[in-house]
Amino acid sequence: MSLAPRSVVIKGTGSYTPANIKTNDDLAKLVDTSNEWIFTRSGIKERRIADETENTSDMGAKAAARALENAGLEASDIDIVIVATITPDMPFPSTACLVQTKLGIANAICMDIEAACSGFLYIMEVASALLKSGSYRNALIIGAEKLSSILDWQDRTTCVLFGDGAGAAILSISDEADVGLLDFQLGADGANSDVLFMPGGGCSQPATPASIDNRLHYLKMRGREVFKLAVKVMEQAAKEILEQNELKSDQLACVIPHQANMRIIELLASRLEIPMDRFYLNLDKYGNTSAASIPIALDEARREGRIQSGDLTLMVAFGAGLTWGAALIRC
Ligand code: ACO
Repeated sequence: MSLAPRSVVIKGTGSYTPANIKTNDDLAKLVDTSNEWIFTRSGIKERRIADETENTSDMGAKAAARALENAGLEASDIDIVIVATITPDMPFPSTACLVQTKLGIANAICMDIEAACSGFLYIMEVASALLKSGSYRNALIIGAEKLSSILDWQDRTTCVLFGDGAGAAILSISDEADVGLLDFQLGADGANSDVLFMPGGGCSQPATPASIDNRLHYLKMRGREVFKLAVKVMEQAAKEILEQNELKSDQLACVIPHQANMRIIELLASRLEIPMDRFYLNLDKYGNTSAASIPIALDEARREGRIQSGDLTLMVAFGAGLTWGAALIRC
């Protein structure tokens, strides 16, 4: 089958966050912190935390079901499922296979891709390339995380920043030109892999009583270094994609940044000379949900009418790896 599509469009989006809200004051009962410290340093007021029975694949499947409904498609229409996550239900099989069966998707290729907080932009480009090959029609892409399962609830420098949730999009081929996913600018630098990582649980440090005692199965972060690198790589990716497409920043109707820290976003906005009211923000409600952050924001922005038909939107992210990326879409 060769469909020779002209473009790949976002046909629908959906998101899901757990009902359980943990406020900054709730966290101040667990570790030595305060609402004032967390809010002024990060912009976060609260986050959602999944319960013990709710896994990454469950949240991903709920977001995906909403995206399918929004797109007006059935499970049987999907031929690709890709999940971006750093908190899979288990090392294997892939979370994408678990989501596939939860949704009753019969005939699809399924895989996970791990690029931390940049993961959703990575899977967007991978799915787009597969769809443009002409062998597939519709892809379900999901960013989903249960970060609460890898947070050290005794470490105040990390546990206050993250939350759980999932966002999804249906990408479809289209004969229209100059719409949908217009361009990507992705990058990575493994030389900085030690600023944000989880040492335990892989083959280099499998789970042992010692690895557990040494708290190796938790996310570790050098926050200040991440902060500086984040601003640098997001500014670079955003400027490059605008230049490549001969666009000026004032032509963007909306910017959806990875929702990690308000001060990072404010610095990015000033370096790109884009007013803050053009940025879609929900960081205060959810904290940093890693690969789920951009698709949750994209879904909320579409549903709230912040992105209208024909609008140019820039999405920009950074994450562990380091990885980063920018994507330009016209809805
Ligand atoms: N409550 C109170 N005090 C705290 C807390 C807390 N939760 N956490 C740290 N502190 C203390 C520190 O111990 C330190 O105390 P000291 O001066 O006595 O040593 C002081 O606050 C300042 O700490 P810094 O780390 O210098 O604080 P900073 O202003 O840099 O803010 C933060 C820290 C919020 C982590 C910031 O560096 C940041 O946002 N970095 C980027 C993080 C990020 O975006 N991570 C996501 C990456 S995406 C991904 O792939 C998952």
